[in-house]
Amino acid sequence: MNLVFLGPPGAGKGTQAKKLLEEFGMPQISTGDILRDAVRRGTDLGKKAKPLMEAGKLVPDDMVVGIAMEHLRQVDPARGFILDGFPRTIPQAVALDSALKRSGEKIDAAISLRVPEETLVERLSGRRSCPKDGSVYHVSQNPPKCEGLCDKCDSSLLQREDDKPEKVRERLAVYARQTAPLEAYYDKQGLLRVINGVGSPEDIYAQIKKILARS
Ligand code: AP5
Repeated sequence: MNLVFLGPPGAGKGTQAKKLLEEFGMPQISTGDILRDAVRRGTDLGKKAKPLMEAGKLVPDDMVVGIAMEHLRQVDPARGFILDGFPRTIPQAVALDSALKRSGEKIDAAISLRVPEETLVERLSGRRSCPKDGSVYHVSQNPPKCEGLCDKCDSSLLQREDDKPEKVRERLAVYARQTAPLEAYYDKQGLLRVINGVGSPEDIYAQIKKILARS
């Protein structure tokens, strides 16, 4: 099954994608993670993306489409995939559909997680991530066993630069302007599935599995 996760920053896309990866081995392709890795390694892509990401703005479509497609080509079609944070604009979605069509594939469902703004701000301000293995925690909702340290590899957890309050406000505005129209794009194709993203991660995961069973 090929899935797109839609939803504003902090909606829980990455959290839910990791659950599907753990249970079903469905690979998660997160353009945010790929870009952050490029920034860490100081590649040309990373150097261009860094100031935009830190300002809460989107990286240009032509840069992102190329890297997303490169990762998609490496996926075993039998396992399907989860796109987390891609597409994020209508041109990205059109490019994705064309590429999938050329390889005889398609998106099976676009799952949109709806969460009110005040909850998003609270989740993002408390998010801490492991720079080594990408594990995601929340200081109060999903704390690590030992404060500030990753449960899996003991690395020190970090707060993302773009999770600072003023950047979060910009990212939410960018989402409303450039990404929210994708709901209508997938709805027209009969693929949109909207779920309430408020509740425990386990309850939300159960809703997602129900959708998968019906799709
Ligand atoms: P990206 O990394 O994709 O960030 P995002 O979409 O803003 O999403 P987040 O990672 O912030 O949130 P999430 O929904 O995954 O939430 P999470 O599960 O972590 O993009 C970053 C930047 O890269 C962009 O701003 C842009 O510059 C660039 N970029 C990336 N893709 C691009 C593209 N396609 N085009 C152009 N530019 C692109 O959860 C958040 C927190 O909440 C965590 O602490 C978690 O533990 C907690 N939490 C999760 N679920 C729950 C729950 N049910 N209850 C309580 N807490 C919860």
